[in-house]
Amino acid sequence: MGSEFIRTRIAMLVSAAIDSRMSCRAFLDTRIPKATLVAILEVAKRAPSGGNLQPWRVDVLTGEPLAKFVAIIRDKLRAQPTGEGSEYNVYPPNLHDPYRSRRYKCGEDLYATIAIDRADKAARVRQFALNYQFFGAPVALFFSVDRRMGVDQWADVGMFMQNVMLLAREHGLHTCAQEAWAVWYKTVGEYLQLPADHMLFCGMALGYRDESAPINTLRTDRAALQEFATLRGFED
Ligand SMILES: Cc1cc2nc3c(=O)[nH]c(=O)nc-3n(C[C@H](O)[C@H](O)[C@H](O)COP(=O)(O)O)c2cc1C
Repeated sequence: MGSEFIRTRIAMLVSAAIDSRMSCRAFLDTRIPKATLVAILEVAKRAPSGGNLQPWRVDVLTGEPLAKFVAIIRDKLRAQPTGEGSEYNVYPPNLHDPYRSRRYKCGEDLYATIAIDRADKAARVRQFALNYQFFGAPVALFFSVDRRMGVDQWADVGMFMQNVMLLAREHGLHTCAQEAWAVWYKTVGEYLQLPADHMLFCGMALGYRDESAPINTLRTDRAALQEFATLRGFED
């Protein structure tokens, strides 16, 4: 870990990093130094994994390689607005409640921040398509996993990703995890030259949050503790 990182880092409680993390959907184009990414990934790699398999792979783009990639996708989107299909289900088919309602509410709340009406499908599609520009972020990350790995290792990749998102907060940065990239898995795989035995899981935008962007005012709900936790055997 370089001395520059130690000097400039903003010490942050884990709780504060968790609390201040949100999915940022408008970024400043301020360049992020390589040292920052290296520092984040060096610490993030301490994520736990079953059997210490460390089953994650991450490819990071910025500058010219990122601009070229975004341009390729922009062209492809014109011909294939819904992408290339995906290698896994981003959501289970026939999503049921309470998950279905949560997903719906999250979308409603998101579009409300930018005054897009429920009926305005075209505006929603335009907003969603900003995923494919990484919401203007100067850094893009792609997380992939060996195809032979199972659900347990996918969970490990999730823990690694969460570390990246929390460490970004420590550096004053924000992120947005982006499974939207699943529908461009072929193009992503070709561009990154992912080994054939690897499968794209998720993209991630990273950079400084645009504090003036209304979309970044969204703070999503969470279910009450009683809805997901059962505590037994405690004194009080
Ligand atoms: C694995 C994963 C994939 C996601 N994919 C997208 C995406 O493609 N586009 C997007 O705008 N948000 C995406 N999100 C953000 C979620 O919508 C967001 O985490 C959720 O609504 C909770 O809001 P918060 O992150 O602001 O707390 C993703 C989040 C996760 C964890």
